[in-house]
Amino acid sequence: MAAHLPRLPFLLFVFLAVHVPTSHGSPLPTTYDSSMCLESFWCGSVEIRYPFYLANATKATSDYNGNYSCGYTDLEISCLGEGPSASPVIRLSGETYTVQDISYDSDNYKVTLVDRDVLVGGSCPAVRHGVTFDGMWLHNTSSNDDLTFYFGCYSGGPRMPAGLHKYQIDCNFESPVPGGGVAFVLTPDDHDKAQEHDLAADCHKVVSVLVKNEVLEVARTWTNFTSGAYGYVLKQGFELGWSPIETGPCPQCEESGGKCAYRQNKTFLGCLCSDGKVGYPDGTDCSGASTAPAPAHAS
Ligand SMILES: *[C@@H]1O[C@H](CO)[C@@H](O)[C@H](O)[C@H]1NC(C)=O
Ligand SMILES: *[C@@H]1O[C@H](CO)[C@@H](O)[C@H](O)[C@H]1NC(C)=O
Ligand SMILES: *[C@@H]1O[C@H](CO)[C@@H](O)[C@H](O)[C@H]1NC(C)=O
Ligand SMILES: *[C@@H]1O[C@H](CO)[C@@H](O)[C@H](O)[C@H]1NC(C)=O
Ligand SMILES: *[C@@H]1O[C@H](CO)[C@@H](O)[C@H](O)[C@H]1NC(C)=O
Repeated sequence: MAAHLPRLPFLLFVFLAVHVPTSHGSPLPTTYDSSMCLESFWCGSVEIRYPFYLANATKATSDYNGNYSCGYTDLEISCLGEGPSASPVIRLSGETYTVQDISYDSDNYKVTLVDRDVLVGGSCPAVRHGVTFDGMWLHNTSSNDDLTFYFGCYSGGPRMPAGLHKYQIDCNFESPVPGGGVAFVLTPDDHDKAQEHDLAADCHKVVSVLVKNEVLEVARTWTNFTSGAYGYVLKQGFELGWSPIETGPCPQCEESGGKCAYRQNKTFLGCLCSDGKVGYPDGTDCSGASTAPAPAHAS
């Protein structure tokens, strides 16, 4: 009998070792492969670094069955192609944008994006969706303006008000647009509220996108604006601001030199330290200091 006693603690140890890392909503393991989260990666002419990260960075980890990011969840970049012609893309609310530039300058954190539909749409591209994103990581900037498209207008009727003709797009879309009929493009200065309302009522689809206001201001005066130059404006993209996270354990993690890992559902997961250790699961940042608020009675 006595000979069997030592086996119980041993089995308990094995049980815990096997089951703790795979438990529900599990934290990260205490170490990770730090070569996954690159300090810097050039995709074409764009430098990708924290809090942006490469999409393939975490897919290959086999020691953790959940997904985590090497940065802020939505700032995941896929690098298409290789070498100087490689092209970084980001997905925001399910839509794909080409990343033209990322500024890591703390006075002006921004990312310049172009809708993929526009880049593949020839000289007269049709936009299919507005620009939507999660305000947790990204924000609109004062360098943008809204450009509004009305598609599939007056397909059945002769009622088009004469004043609208100058906004009618007069070139052929590369790909079909919904509803047939004609299309219009209006800049914010063109908007006469009443007219806009009438127009929307007679069109199949209204799409408002962001463009750089400095580009729009010049091009809207060109006579070819509605016959293709609007496409030039779209291809110059727009700028979104990004900003360091200011809430939760992330600021302290970053202060200690770590990178914040987030779950797919955008909740904080852990602090990835440069030595391959994970700071947060045991309540510490990369300097070993506690990231958790001090308990009320601790002193
Ligand atoms: C996010 O996912 C984690 C782990 O799957 C879960 O525990 C947590 O409740 C989720 N949070 C939200 C806000 O959905
Ligand atoms: C991890 O991400 C992949 C692809 O994005 C997805 O198919 C998979 O279900 C995710 N796994 C978990 C555990 O969330
Ligand atoms: C991730 O993608 C980049 C660019 O396409 C490539 O250079 C790198 O080897 C990939 N990393 C992994 C782990 O697949
Ligand atoms: C973005 O910001 C610009 C400049 O302030 C503003 O004109 C535009 O309406 C904003 N667009 C959206 C979708 O918030
Ligand atoms: C439109 O006109 C401008 C100025 O005349 C010219 O520079 C530009 O190349 C033209 N763009 C297109 C797309 O036709």
